[in-house]
Amino acid sequence: MQIETGVSLKPYNTFSLPAMARTLVRVTSDGDVRQVARHPQLGRADKFVLGGGSNIILTRDMPQLVLKVEVRGMRLVEVRHDAWIVEAGAGESWQALVAFTLAQGWPGLENLALIPGTVGASPVQNIGAYGVELQDRFDSLDAVDLATGSGLTLHASDCAFGYRDSVFKQALAGRCVITRVRFRLPRPWQPVLGYLELERKRAETGIDAPGAQQVFDWVCAIRHAKLPDPAVIGNAGSFFKNPVVSIEQCRDITGRDPEVVHYPMPDGSVKLAAGWMIDACGWKGKSVGQAGVYEKQALVLVNRGHATGSEVMLLAAAIQESVYGRFGIRLEAEPVVV
Ligand code: EPU
Repeated sequence: MQIETGVSLKPYNTFSLPAMARTLVRVTSDGDVRQVARHPQLGRADKFVLGGGSNIILTRDMPQLVLKVEVRGMRLVEVRHDAWIVEAGAGESWQALVAFTLAQGWPGLENLALIPGTVGASPVQNIGAYGVELQDRFDSLDAVDLATGSGLTLHASDCAFGYRDSVFKQALAGRCVITRVRFRLPRPWQPVLGYLELERKRAETGIDAPGAQQVFDWVCAIRHAKLPDPAVIGNAGSFFKNPVVSIEQCRDITGRDPEVVHYPMPDGSVKLAAGWMIDACGWKGKSVGQAGVYEKQALVLVNRGHATGSEVMLLAAAIQESVYGRFGIRLEAEPVVV
């Protein structure tokens, strides 16, 4: 276990925001986390767990002890009659896991291709795209309790998964470090193609029964076309959650603005497309300082070069205000603001 001091976090957050960590420890195993938890000084310090840094907005230097999760490894741990169970270290890149499982012939994660971040961060916000959410492919995970240093295993029912939400953003926030995640990849494999843009690909190409690699390629192409690559333009994916409202509220809004893009949910509520509303308020391509709204997808805020976390938050507040003014809806930020 290596303790570093005065570390720049700019390379460790995909928005490329400037911030310093007073102390940073890289953890590569459960044993490392246990050692930190039981360490006479480090054990008492406030801690912040850093994964791929793809879903955080850093607005200041971090006085906390930053734990950078670097647990590696990807392997098949079990073959069940109806699923492959694959385990990955929390520090592995998400995209590397998606590619690895496909190459090994264990498909099921292809709709979640190209989501930035690490394996350990995937259950925290229950990542989702193109009709699949992490919870649909989740088996269990291992974590270490930061107060006691003891290990724990959590199953789906312990994780309180919701839309971009889980127990790790709520009751367990900051209290444990996820070290390994196990995925349940159903067999036989069946493609998930219900999402409009995938349907469009199917119609365009005339490929009616795509294989998993084909779906992976389509998802990568769709994402490349409208989402910025964080290696080139700093960003944290969708900046706001799509708000969920009651059918009455939705009727009220569509009564005034019939074009609002919305999707009925299984429980009778309605999800509104935040990107559409932000776009309709004229924000695409606008900036505050070096923080901007991406030209091709208004739900994504970007770093135009040297943005600070404060600029990003000023821009976010201005967007929230104008969406509230026009639609009466309060948008909620999706990334964790630190
Ligand atoms: N739209 C606009 N203008 C915009 C952006 C969107 O008119 O600037 C419209 C689109 O035309 C579409 C609707 O709004 O009719 C919804 O847009 P899209 O299909 O692009 O999906 P999204 O709701 O913006 C969500 C996820 C993404 C995920 C995609 C695909 C959230 C917060 N975001 O975006 O997740 O990739 O669906 O499933 O749920 C992420 O979380 O970081 C992320 C990228």
